Amino acid sequence: MAARCKTAILISGSGTNLQAFINAVAGGSLDLDIAVVFSNNPDAFGLQRAEQAGISTACVQHGDFPDRDSFDRAVIAELDRFEPDLLILAGFMRILSASFVSHYAGKILNIHPALLPLYPGLNTHQRVLDAGDEWHGSTVHFVTEQLDAGPRILQGRLPIIPGESAEELEKRVQAVEHQIYPVAAGMVGSGKVSFKDGQSWVDGHPIVEPLIKSFK
Ligand code: GRF
Repeated sequence: MAARCKTAILISGSGTNLQAFINAVAGGSLDLDIAVVFSNNPDAFGLQRAEQAGISTACVQHGDFPDRDSFDRAVIAELDRFEPDLLILAGFMRILSASFVSHYAGKILNIHPALLPLYPGLNTHQRVLDAGDEWHGSTVHFVTEQLDAGPRILQGRLPIIPGESAEELEKRVQAVEHQIYPVAAGMVGSGKVSFKDGQSWVDGHPIVEPLIKSFK
């Protein structure tokens, strides 16, 4: 990985995780070069956050393309202008094709709002409450072709408060995400954590169970 890892952050919406990255870089706790913020949605508020921070933005609308492959090819062409070492999916609401993932093999991170492998997919907070779980959280993982199933890196865990709503839980999980995602990305950017042979590694050792940070 390059000394100062060139990073593309991909968003579709509000971009609170993006803001956490911007703040961490500005505050000096994260050493990444955010080269571009990319969105498939021109109205994503995250694009305004990027502009406010003086970061380049790019947008390709999926509706302008007949299928996923042609859209993904256009996204690759746009992103590759910035020669990214790392792609950070931060609320990017498009499923990536196998050829997109293999173009950036081992270089894409995602954050999923659940303790993977539990609850892949959508609506995780309500599903966790419906199941009566005691713990919830969020997982940073490398992206592979299988949705929400790539090798895990870091999980933030928090106990469920009896009686809390899905909205309240979502807010607490998001606050966790804002802390763990820049940390995990920093570990990848510095080369401490890597992807090899379909696995995640820390300091040369395979990550069997993800690193864990506990929150209240
Ligand atoms: C986050 O909750 C993340 O877990 C999921 O998408 C959401 C993005 O939120 N992948 P934001 O746009 O960063 O506020």
